[in-house]
Amino acid sequence: MSQDLLTLPHPHPVKALEEYSRDRLGFMQRCTQEYQGIVPLKFGDEWFCLLANPDYITQVLKDRMLFIKAKDIQQLSGILGNGLLNSEGDFWLRQRRLAQPVFHQQQIHSYAAVMVEYTQRMLETWQDGEVHDVHEAMMRLTLNIVMKTLFDQNVEDTAAGSIAHTLDVAMNWVEYQEAKNVMGALTEIGELQSLSADMPHEEIDQRLQEAIALFDETVYAIIQQRRANGTTGKDLLGMLMQVEDADDGSRMTDKQLRDEAATLILAGHETTANALSWTWMLLAQNPHIREKLNAELQTVLNGRTPTLADLPQLTYTNWVIKESMRLYPPATDISREATQDCEIGGYFIPKGTTLIASQWAMHRDARYFSEPELFQPERWANDLEKQLPRGVYFPFGDGPRVCIGKSFAVMEAVLLLATIAQKFQLDLVSDQHIELQPSITLRARHGIKFVLQDAA
Ligand code: HEM
Repeated sequence: MSQDLLTLPHPHPVKALEEYSRDRLGFMQRCTQEYQGIVPLKFGDEWFCLLANPDYITQVLKDRMLFIKAKDIQQLSGILGNGLLNSEGDFWLRQRRLAQPVFHQQQIHSYAAVMVEYTQRMLETWQDGEVHDVHEAMMRLTLNIVMKTLFDQNVEDTAAGSIAHTLDVAMNWVEYQEAKNVMGALTEIGELQSLSADMPHEEIDQRLQEAIALFDETVYAIIQQRRANGTTGKDLLGMLMQVEDADDGSRMTDKQLRDEAATLILAGHETTANALSWTWMLLAQNPHIREKLNAELQTVLNGRTPTLADLPQLTYTNWVIKESMRLYPPATDISREATQDCEIGGYFIPKGTTLIASQWAMHRDARYFSEPELFQPERWANDLEKQLPRGVYFPFGDGPRVCIGKSFAVMEAVLLLATIAQKFQLDLVSDQHIELQPSITLRARHGIKFVLQDAA
């Protein structure tokens, strides 16, 4: 490494952790605008660097050996085991190679009909004039879809119900951990007197362990039943059971299947549900855009339910989803840990530093998007995505660890939006407080309530 590397500039002078814990997204955005390169932050004893330059983001996301997943993802290993999201090294590479063909467009196309069918089932329970928390409805719908496509099970089935329960408990646990980490660091720098003594951590940990045990029992029973019957099935689990390592012909063990299944359920439903919830909010806030969307649906579908074959014609619908994920990226930031001393943009980065790439901040950066705070799906015309520098728009991440479910998610979001928008217009219930909750994914803390109106 060159001798004349710059040392990192002085840590951001604001009381970073306090501001971060109060308004994580705004803080990232302000730092990005102010510094535009690399922003060193110190929370307690730990060093973090926010990457505010697309080249640095690309450099970090491309190199999976030098930059591994940071603690926020590693802490999920108690729940996800060694699944694709949090495994590393050769093990991850083998699993990714095995799973990749299962997510190939040709394979997942067969799920389009499931996605539309489950949406229609939900719509049959909706009535004109009703008020719904659409965030909750989208979570339920995408969970139903992932359970059907992964296990060929309905959530009403006992097994799927147990799995859904585990997920709830796990997410609460993750939120609790995050709160605990921030509070612990605040205590260390004297911002808080002490970590609240009455936090029921033992109880929370115990609930998690019980939920994981239930999950394991359920998933192993499904796998064993299939092995015993000699049938694997055409769902994602079945395909994962069949794939063979090209080098030695081996297949995934039960433990690997269990870990990948847990990962796909967790990574595969809440993200898409959030993308849709924010999309409904943006459409209700921008009626002129909703009209353009409806006009496209009318022209292309004319009241028909959408199918896979319609997707290439649903250009505006696609832009709506893309633009919604620009403003409200379901994953607001990605972090990595440097495994060795290294260099980024001429700065020396010590081993162990956590590097953060913030979709939230880059997607709203006026250097790359005109009027960045406005919802303008048209901006994606003329292949804007290809013209942007790499590292500016990355809702699905980038590099070797890019989201394996990207095609699945985009297909799902477009089909669900087109199916629902043809039946109902969703208007926001007035006077509600919609609060962002950036956790592992960007949720609406109190949900988002809409009044349904027949879209006749
Ligand atoms: C709008 C929906 C989605 C968004 C925004 C999203 C976003 C992301 C992002 C940003 C990453 C990279 C994380 C990192 O580099 O640290 C990722 C990874 C991943 N996603 Fe998604 N995701 C979505 C939907 C899905 C779906 C539907 C599935 C599966 C059915 C899925 C499965 C995964 C898996 C397994 C990984 C880990 C891949 C690896 O490291 O090899 N995601 N996702």
